[in-house]
Amino acid sequence: MHVYNNKNLNKVRVWDLPTRVFHWALLLCITGLAITGSVGGSAMIWHFRFGYFVLTLLLFRIIWGLAGGRWSRFGAFIYAPQSLIKYLKGQGKLEHGVGHSPVGALSVFALLGVLLAQVGTGLLSDDEISFAGPLTRFVSNATVSLATNYHTAIGKWLLLGLVVLHIAAILFYLYRKHNLVLAMLHGDKNLVVAVPPSRDDALSRMAALLILWACAALAYWVFSLGAQAF
Ligand code: HEM
Repeated sequence: MHVYNNKNLNKVRVWDLPTRVFHWALLLCITGLAITGSVGGSAMIWHFRFGYFVLTLLLFRIIWGLAGGRWSRFGAFIYAPQSLIKYLKGQGKLEHGVGHSPVGALSVFALLGVLLAQVGTGLLSDDEISFAGPLTRFVSNATVSLATNYHTAIGKWLLLGLVVLHIAAILFYLYRKHNLVLAMLHGDKNLVVAVPPSRDDALSRMAALLILWACAALAYWVFSLGAQAF
């Protein structure tokens, strides 16, 4: 079932540079969010900034999931339930080990979904002292209090749980002698199957930069609706 080997049979670009930058930037921002959220007080200014960065990254990843390199596209890791069941029974296909496996894909979608919910509720949250998300004035008090409750009491623990699971899975694969982290760093996997690579040339990277810029502009517009200092 595993498509990795130590011999250099087929070196394939699986994670294009934009996906890798997305991943490690996300890790930095989530760490920043966790720290600033726990410290509170004036650190909340950075909590907001990291939140807008994550909003930018998530918007980017959604578009990159449609337009990015072959193995970063959602189409490459949306599996039918039968594929998941077969994979769990140890009857997966060789191709399942190229990008995200059926189980890995579940965790990726869960992470992205919970991150979106965390950012979305953050935009609607209000600590009733000094900080309010930029969209609070567009919804009722009841919605603000629901969003704040989810953001501070539920979502962050869900996210933490998923991140712990995510890292545990990476360590489990490492224990089984499959280092997934290297491919998230340099982009390539050595595979026993011949599969098309993800496009990762100067032009596709330029396109990614443009998309990222547009997503940052959108996140800035969301910020400007609340008009608190950046
Ligand atoms: C806040 C912490 C983290 C978050 C939110 C996170 C989130 C994600 C997401 C969303 C993906 C999917 C990538 C994509 O297709 O765009 C992913 C994949 C991956 N992450 Fe993380 N990650 C975190 C921490 C880490 C850490 C600490 C490591 C390792 C040291 C790691 C290693 C990986 C690897 C190797 C993959 C690819 C998995 C595969 O081959 O299917 N992540 N992560």
